[in-house]
Amino acid sequence: MNDLSELMASRRSVRAYADRPVDEVLVRALLADAVAAPSPSNAQPWRFLVVTSRERIAAMASAVREATARIASHVTPEGRAAFVAYGDYFVRFEAAPVVIVAIHRGRRVLGHLVDDALPGDDRARIEAMERDSALAATAMAVQNLLLSAHARGLGASPMTGPMVAADQLLGLLGVPAGWGIAAVVPVGWPAEHPSPTARKPLDAVVTWLR
Ligand SMILES: Cc1cc2nc3c(=O)[nH]c(=O)nc-3n(C[C@H](O)[C@H](O)[C@H](O)COP(=O)(O)O)c2cc1C
Repeated sequence: MNDLSELMASRRSVRAYADRPVDEVLVRALLADAVAAPSPSNAQPWRFLVVTSRERIAAMASAVREATARIASHVTPEGRAAFVAYGDYFVRFEAAPVVIVAIHRGRRVLGHLVDDALPGDDRARIEAMERDSALAATAMAVQNLLLSAHARGLGASPMTGPMVAADQLLGLLGVPAGWGIAAVVPVGWPAEHPSPTARKPLDAVVTWLR
């Protein structure tokens, strides 16, 4: 248990990678750990796209840059520099040898079982619950993947910033309709060792209702 806590505490988001390939056997091991995650009714509502083509990764980064620039042109002049600096973090997957895109799909199982008389609020909540559950499960799988990468000496980072260009990315990746991106996860041998990041004190984020 101490080892697991130590692993979780020492994981960092790594955004700079050595010019060294990651063996496919290792990538498969990360994905095997990812899919050990729990999911609603064990539906495993995730898929993982493993992108290693430099051209495709560059095209993804271009789409994200274009979307960021488009949005930046509508940010107030005072906020623009900060937004552009922030947007720089949306393309930090660009230099990674492997980019894993985790996608999710919420299936309407319960939503299909209810009759037409169910009030709209309840219907909306059931649909949101099923959709959000798929995203939550996929996020859990991504965390498994991040910890697995860290345990193996690899560097990785979860990224949702690239989703400013979600539609373009889905097209570039050939994702079928109905699936959404949960996270873009660059993976590589670390070329940086980021300092520890602070966490809010537990008492600031936990409420006990005894
Ligand atoms: C849902 C989510 C989205 C994130 N999106 C990005 C991103 O787009 N670009 C990026 O560089 N880092 C991204 N991060 C990494 C965070 O910046 C990082 O987790 C946070 O600063 C804490 O640092 P640590 O992971 O090293 O502890 C994201 C993290 C999460 C959980």
